[in-house]
Amino acid sequence: MAEQRENWSSRTGFIIAAVGSAVGLGNIWRFPYVAYDNGGGAFMVPYLIALFTAGIPLLFLDYIIGHKYRSAPPRAYKKMVKSAQFIGWWQTLVSFVIAIYYAAVIVWAGSYMVFSFGQKWGEDTTTFFVSDFIKHTGDLNAVFVPQMFIGLILVWALAMLIMFGGIRKGVELANKICIPLLIVLFGIMVFKALSLPGAAVGLNAFFEPNWEKMKDPNVWLAAYGHVFFSLSVGFGIMVTYASYLKKNTNLTGAGLVVGFANSSFELIAGIGIFAAIGFMAVSTGQDVAEVASGGVGLAFFVFPKIISTMGASGDFVGFLFFGSLVVAGISSLISILEVPISAFQDKFDWSRKKAVTVIGGVCAAISIVAFSTGSSLVLVDVIDHFANNIGIVAGGLLSIVSVTWFNRQKIPGLLDHINRISSVKLGGAWVFMLTVITPTVLTIALGLKLIDLVREPYEGYSTSILLFFGWGVVVFFGLGAFIMTRIKGRYDDEDDKSRLLDDAR
Ligand code: PHE
Repeated sequence: MAEQRENWSSRTGFIIAAVGSAVGLGNIWRFPYVAYDNGGGAFMVPYLIALFTAGIPLLFLDYIIGHKYRSAPPRAYKKMVKSAQFIGWWQTLVSFVIAIYYAAVIVWAGSYMVFSFGQKWGEDTTTFFVSDFIKHTGDLNAVFVPQMFIGLILVWALAMLIMFGGIRKGVELANKICIPLLIVLFGIMVFKALSLPGAAVGLNAFFEPNWEKMKDPNVWLAAYGHVFFSLSVGFGIMVTYASYLKKNTNLTGAGLVVGFANSSFELIAGIGIFAAIGFMAVSTGQDVAEVASGGVGLAFFVFPKIISTMGASGDFVGFLFFGSLVVAGISSLISILEVPISAFQDKFDWSRKKAVTVIGGVCAAISIVAFSTGSSLVLVDVIDHFANNIGIVAGGLLSIVSVTWFNRQKIPGLLDHINRISSVKLGGAWVFMLTVITPTVLTIALGLKLIDLVREPYEGYSTSILLFFGWGVVVFFGLGAFIMTRIKGRYDDEDDKSRLLDDAR
């Protein structure tokens, strides 16, 4: 007997969870550098255009599909178009894989939160991270890293506990704790950073517009790529979260709030991070360009240096910064875990408990075994690159064109669904974006990336690593999705019937 589909306690509960998913490492360590590197203040133009022509429209599409068909991606897409179940599984498997390595990044940040007290990283922060802490050797190695093992167990125990709680008592509650906590931690961090000498130098470098860059197509691609990743669209997360909304919910209103909150957070992150970078540049007599970086480099090489430059008061700033990464990471991790858990509940009529035990358990086991070794950096780097640039982009592209190119007859029904319950109404402009603009940009991005990856081995990794953990993961998405669509689900016949009715209408 099926458990009744859960729901959020309120629209606010949903919005907080959606913001929790969207605001992640991407906002803190990705956006500031992407913006700085792609035109500074001028980047706002492609960024906003990307947001309104791709990010928000796709967010709305995800919402509609999740809400109208009230299921996680595989079943939701299948209820819409039979063959589209494959797309849902593709997105689900991408989420499954990302969850496995994302937890490792949270453990890195969590460890650094502890290392902040007493600034355990010493003078040479890069060597400390790479050699002393994660035991990276440039290639795969099986050196056991006990700190990672313990950290991973803690992170997975917490994640599983939250997932066992279900939507209201698990995911929603965790986000209601994480988001205010994040605002406090990160807010204090930004204020501290702004009060440092040299902050203005960093901000000037961050905001100074370089209009020349607008002519570079790569800047536009960077804007679209970032917006896509930052809003958590194309992963299946927003489809899944929207499936737990009550029948009458103002979807467009919620989407605009989520989009606005996410962008505001990244802008504030840019200000805080570049204020700190400016401080470091001025104190050490370097150029901002020499200090600025993003991703792992920013968080684990540069930021610890900045903290050390502050002397003893740096301990607290480190705690705030790494604490923010952990909290933002946890709320994103649970959103991504919700996708496969919900998908298996839908497919086999599993109880919540069973789905969390099996799917969460498998994720946790793989994650703990693989990332407690000195290979964690290589694995995160390679899998992340392929899962994001191919997995997410292809999944998003397929989901869009499956509607706007191949099943245009579905569009009036989808529009009708959202417009009946929403404040801001969608129409021709939305359809145009998703028919022309978004697919074009995504196809170009995907095409260029594929050419790039085939031409040159990513980051110079060995062929076997790239074949197994890069292309292998992509094959896993495709093959896994194919197999999952072949396995008969508990509701397949019912869904086929309801789709026929829907089509006839
Ligand atoms: N939107 C998230 C971010 O900005 C991306 C993400 C979501 C990554 C969920 C993993 C899991 O970081």
